Amino acid sequence: MNCALFAFLLLNFALTGDSVRSIIIFYSYSGNTAEVAKTLAEELGKQGEVDTIRLEAQDESGSFLGQCKRAFFKKKAQIKDTVFDLNAYSLVCLGTPVWAFGMAPALRAYIERSFGLENKSIALFTTFGSGTGNDKCLNEMQAILAQKGAKDFKRFSIQQHNVKDRDFVIEKIEEALRP
Ligand SMILES: Cc1cc2nc3c(=O)[nH]c(=O)nc-3n(C[C@H](O)[C@H](O)[C@H](O)COP(=O)(O)O)c2cc1C
Repeated sequence: MNCALFAFLLLNFALTGDSVRSIIIFYSYSGNTAEVAKTLAEELGKQGEVDTIRLEAQDESGSFLGQCKRAFFKKKAQIKDTVFDLNAYSLVCLGTPVWAFGMAPALRAYIERSFGLENKSIALFTTFGSGTGNDKCLNEMQAILAQKGAKDFKRFSIQQHNVKDRDFVIEKIEEALRP
């Protein structure tokens, strides 16, 4: 872990008084976002406890068009009960592939049900293909979370062909989490 990431986590610790405890909640259909989440967990894990939740859509559409339609019209997927209370965490990381210029329905469902986000530090991450809609996706995630009281937002995005390039991903993570 480089100094920037360490400093960010330390600052969080100083501000909240809590031990450095992070959670990564993500959805991944074909594995790209999962790959990035794994690298993020390894990096954050060097400094503190990290919980990871991989969301699954129980009502997933199997077709590209079906997935696009559900994402575009802001449908929420059916997801299993999991940890929705995020009070215990100093850093909350939320990840999704960009689908039809927005987030995947499973992450949308999770964000809607999550609570305990007042004044939390948030790291948003996406993976994408062409990049069309990536900012729109991040902006919407940030706006919904800001309405829930989250304050400090960090963001990073990885193009699908770079997700396995660990050094590249680590650099993006460190750049994003720099205080
Ligand atoms: C249904 C669907 C819609 C997509 N829409 C977009 C899009 O709007 N913009 C974009 O840049 N990439 C888009 N992509 C590409 C994905 O964001 C990209 O492949 C991502 O890395 C997949 O992540 P995953 O493997 O974690 O599911 C789309 C892919 C799918 C399957």
